[in-house]
Amino acid sequence: MSAANGTVLVTGGAGYVGGFAVRALLAAGERVVILDDLSTGHRENVPATVPLVVADLRDAAGVRSALADVQFDAVMHFAANAYVGESVRDPRKYWENNVGGTLNLLGLCLDRGVGAFVFSSTCAVYGEPPVPALREDLPRAPVNPYGRTKAVIEQVLEDYAAATGLRSFRLRYFNASGASEDGTLGEDHEPETHLIPLVLRAATTQSPLKVFGTDWATPDGTCVRDYVHVEDLASAHVAAIRRLRDGHAGGALNLGTGRGTSVKEIIEAAERVSGLTVPWTAAPRRDGDPPFLVAAPGRAAEVLGWAPRWTSIDRIVGSAWKWHQRGRSQP
Ligand SMILES: NC(=O)c1ccc[n+]([C@@H]2O[C@H](COP(=O)([O-])OP(=O)(O)OC[C@H]3O[C@@H](n4cnc5c(N)ncnc54)[C@H](O)[C@@H]3O)[C@@H](O)[C@H]2O)c1
Repeated sequence: MSAANGTVLVTGGAGYVGGFAVRALLAAGERVVILDDLSTGHRENVPATVPLVVADLRDAAGVRSALADVQFDAVMHFAANAYVGESVRDPRKYWENNVGGTLNLLGLCLDRGVGAFVFSSTCAVYGEPPVPALREDLPRAPVNPYGRTKAVIEQVLEDYAAATGLRSFRLRYFNASGASEDGTLGEDHEPETHLIPLVLRAATTQSPLKVFGTDWATPDGTCVRDYVHVEDLASAHVAAIRRLRDGHAGGALNLGTGRGTSVKEIIEAAERVSGLTVPWTAAPRRDGDPPFLVAAPGRAAEVLGWAPRWTSIDRIVGSAWKWHQRGRSQP
């Protein structure tokens, strides 16, 4: 372990993106402690060598007591609820967890003098942007409660950085996707709302996928998104922690590839990698679903020296297919 390493508290480390970050941290020689309430995460995602503190961030006193004897110098904060539709139906859940829980965690970090904080933000903070390639200096204009909770925490982190020693990166992920190459770790959400697992389910069950909007002003009429592999997200997080430890002031960074892929192109990729047909039906457009959400990715390269390594959509969908075939991502 190099002198630059330390102990990283990973909230939500039993979840999908957090699970990959934990593995990347261990591979980089860091010590890791996971805090997770296992509400949507999975105990089996926690490596045997990593301590798991089971606690709910909304319970400030419980978290302080559970972490009383745990030393850490940096935090990666993945724990949140992350369903756009649910956030519209049940905004209280989102404000209490994504904002209330995060404020509890940040209070603890300030009291302990923790200086490095990496926050899971999202391209949902851009709302329905007027341009196809999104740069970080666009205004935050979220259009649903989920996006608003993330935008508010970005603001809180900016305010805290201006007044305290808590520096942070706000990493705005585009569409986290894929699984480990060996098929042992992947996406396991219930209900599943992400396109690639839903397309793979449609392939295996032959129950048609709903494609929301086929008449958008995009090359094939379906929505275009930026699919970034979770291992690439994980490596950006490790780089971000290290930059903060080196004294970098932090900031907001897009984590995307800069490459747009349409829903129909994902369906075609799934058909190629699985050898199965993906049945689908056209459904009406959904409110708040912009036609294009694609990153202008240059800033993360400049600041973190980060570039996605998984550049082929077939390889991303192929890794998810391998994971899907093992059974954990199936209904
Ligand atoms: N998956 C994506 O495409 C994507 C895109 C943009 C941003 N994000 C953000 O990335 C983060 C991780 O997303 P994910 O897809 O891995 O979700 P996930 O549901 O797989 O992981 C979230 C983890 O946080 C834990 N958690 C939730 N509330 C908690 C609480 N109050 N106390 C303790 N633990 C709690 C859950 O048990 C789970 O393990 C979230 O903050 C999400 O908003 C995800």
